[in-house]
Parts: sequence; structure tokens; C-alpha cells
Amino acid sequence: MFDFSLPADTPDEERYRELVNAADALTDGESDGVANMANLAALIWSFVPDLNWAGFYRLVDGELVLGPFIGRPACIRIPLGQGVCGTAAASGETQLVADVHAFPGHIACDSASEAELVVPVIKDGQVVAVIDLDSPRKGRFKQADADGLEALASRIAARI
Ligand code: SME
Repeated sequence: MFDFSLPADTPDEERYRELVNAADALTDGESDGVANMANLAALIWSFVPDLNWAGFYRLVDGELVLGPFIGRPACIRIPLGQGVCGTAAASGETQLVADVHAFPGHIACDSASEAELVVPVIKDGQVVAVIDLDSPRKGRFKQADADGLEALASRIAARI
């Protein structure tokens, strides 16, 4: 029913613009955060190439807890400040990691992961979740990916 795939040579800016518009349309009027995160993980998976994991960790009682995702089963709880996700959640800042093996404290959930991009989702000035993308290709994520995912996070923050 939903086919959001784009040609492989679509420029990043256009790819993320389409992703954000699709995410907006798909979550509009739906108040269930789990349903929205599940659809958003699936949307990211269809729009963003070269991923082996895409999904959410939610901030629950002071730690990150696994949310809806596409990929292999992952670690369930991540303390704030630990790993790439915990660093993004604690600092409120996007973590663009070209080589996960060079990131101190990186938490390996899937041995295929070589690069990672984690963007905080901020609602009313507070981090409520992070969006985590993993790629099997070193150096996969560029500033355009970070910018695009930040635009997505800000558009859907009130809906998860
Ligand atoms: N690598 C992450 C853990 C989550 S998995 O990649 C799905 C981290 O270091 O926080």
C-alpha cells in the first residue's frame, strides 16, 4: 500500500525532504507513539540506503529503552552517557560516527555495524528519545544525513 522507494541517485537533500514529508503525512492525526515510531522506522528503512539497523530508543525513567526498529534484535537498555545512543541522549547533540570501532564505549549490538548516526528527539526542551541508524559501511553518514534526520526528529517529536 505504501511504496516510498526513491531512485538510487536521488540527492540526499531531496531524499530527506521526501522522508520528512512522508513521515509527516503518515503520523498526522495519530496519537499512538508506538504505532508512529514503528511506521517511522519502516519509512527510514525504505528511504535511507545502506542501513543494517534503524529505530528508536526512548528515555524512560532516566535510561534509554529500546523502541520500534528494523534490524537485528538489539540491546534493550542503555544508560545515559554510555555508547553512541547514551551520549546523544545525555548531551542532546547528534552523534555522527564514521567508524564505530573508534568511538570510546560504543555498544556493539550487531557486529555488521561500522558507522552510526544518532539524533536526539527533543520535545519541550527535553530529550525524549533518540533515532539510531547503523550502517555496515564505514564513513556512510555525512552531514546531509545528520541534517535530514534532525529535520525528521523535529517534525515528529510531538507524535512519539
Ligand atoms: N551502537 C549503539 C547501541 C544501539 S545499536 O547500534 C542498535 C550505541 O553505541 O549506543
